[in-house]
Amino acid sequence: MRRPYLFVPIILALALGAPAAAKDTPPAAAIASAHPMATAAGFEILHAGGNAFDAAVAVSATLAVVEPYSSGLGGGGFWLLHRAADGRDVMIDGREKAPLAATRTMYQDAHGKVIPGRSIDGALAAGVPGEPAALVRLARRYGKLSLARDLAPAIRAARQGFKVTPHYRAMAKFRLKRLRRSPAAAVFLKDDEVPPLGYVIRQPDLAKTLEALAREGRRGFYRGPIARRLVAASRAAGGIWSAKDLKAYRVVERAPIVGHYHDLRIVSASPPSSGGVALVEMLHILAGYDLSAVSPVVRKHLVIEAMRRAYRDRAEYLGDPDFVKMPLARLTSPDYAAGLRAGIRLDKATPSADLRAVAPAPSGRHTTHFSILDRQGNRVAGTLSINWPFGSGYMAPGTGVLFNDEMDDFSAKPGVPNVYGLIGAEANAIAPGKRPLSSMSPTFVEGPKGVAILGTPGGSRIITMVLLGILDYADGHGPAHWVSLPRYHQQYLPDVVQYEPKALTAKEIAGLKAMGYTLKDVGHTWGNMQAVLWDKAKGRVSAASDPRGEGAARVK
Ligand code: DON
Repeated sequence: MRRPYLFVPIILALALGAPAAAKDTPPAAAIASAHPMATAAGFEILHAGGNAFDAAVAVSATLAVVEPYSSGLGGGGFWLLHRAADGRDVMIDGREKAPLAATRTMYQDAHGKVIPGRSIDGALAAGVPGEPAALVRLARRYGKLSLARDLAPAIRAARQGFKVTPHYRAMAKFRLKRLRRSPAAAVFLKDDEVPPLGYVIRQPDLAKTLEALAREGRRGFYRGPIARRLVAASRAAGGIWSAKDLKAYRVVERAPIVGHYHDLRIVSASPPSSGGVALVEMLHILAGYDLSAVSPVVRKHLVIEAMRRAYRDRAEYLGDPDFVKMPLARLTSPDYAAGLRAGIRLDKATPSADLRAVAPAPSGRHTTHFSILDRQGNRVAGTLSINWPFGSGYMAPGTGVLFNDEMDDFSAKPGVPNVYGLIGAEANAIAPGKRPLSSMSPTFVEGPKGVAILGTPGGSRIITMVLLGILDYADGHGPAHWVSLPRYHQQYLPDVVQYEPKALTAKEIAGLKAMGYTLKDVGHTWGNMQAVLWDKAKGRVSAASDPRGEGAARVK
């Protein structure tokens, strides 16, 4: 999918404080998110006495309002938390679940062929939303303020509106046909067309839904009048949600995946995200080389070979931990990585076909990530999604809630690629109540000198973007550098190295081709990374928002 370039300056913020020695708390708080109104909402809550977890509720809920193509109450996500008081690291899994009436072959026709669009467009594509339950859990178990206080900025934004930006227009144009056929047209279009720049989008129905959540917590969304509307709307539009699906939805608190790269400790999303496992597998492979001592071509070659191997394992093994047994200890062990490393030649690409076959899993700036650090040292990395731009495009009338199309993240049929070209196997087959495998990778990197918080949208490319960011941090660079880095990506199948325009030099292109790689300039950029660094050695906090997007990073 093509996207226009957006020449937005990097928004970089810095705060200096006393060098680390004194106490182990940051000299400033920082928030980087994909929209200035969400970043401002987070700071409003910090100033009102909230902690990073309260701010995460405000940022998430505001993004649900002002970036309706990226995430929302009708979607889900992963919130990675670090609580400074006791050092607890936990991931709140608010991933959508397959409805109880879902079946393994629900997106196939009578001949077993996957029906194009079925898992992407309309109510049948939607999993049962997790974001509302996750926000309630975040505020009540981890926050200091009330859920209602944390949601106030989002409710205000829904009522007063936000202005249409160039990126909004690009996303609405991409989904125009689908939006026109949905109750969402009345909210997100103007006279059935993409609204002009600066046009104000108001969402009074969504404001009411947020108020019900603020007032009643989980019950406000998963039971009662809003739940009834959601179920009726799903049924009326060919979906299969039931009242029981909504009532039964629960977030799960899961232990994050932890691994090491030289002196850095990586804490990242655990299944049903593939992010942490793949990241740790890649970093363990790469830790066996001195990447600073090899030529740029060989460095890229080694990074690409690590990507290829981790994505192969993703396709075979990973899925919802509540449904499948996964060899996680093996996949994240340095010994396993050493075995994979032994199969990498220094002078030649490994064709994906030469790796053990998986028994028969594009991207950009929908889905959203934010990173938060507060003055106590609490951290949140949140990656939230409704999947494709504007999700399934379908909205339940009267609720302001856009249905996600996260069901496409399941493997609709073994070996048949999803919208991101990912293939999957048994581990990620559809089952009632199961969570689809994700690539969302909210991540902390802890080292002797400080702590990094990062993540990004970008479908299957999320994990490799975070990998490149971590390697860049290991090389001594800061957030402004990680978020602007040129990006390249390999995901096992198709056996192609994709790259952003100008991401590879002529010399690198020639060198990699000579090693046997097939390279593809995809013609557009991807990702929208939001990152924060607390440099303890220098007593400094900095934050940056990807120049490819329209976000805002602030330190105060
Ligand atoms: O969970 C996942 O992996 C996908 N639903 C994320 C989608 C995404 O990042 C789209 N962004 N461009």
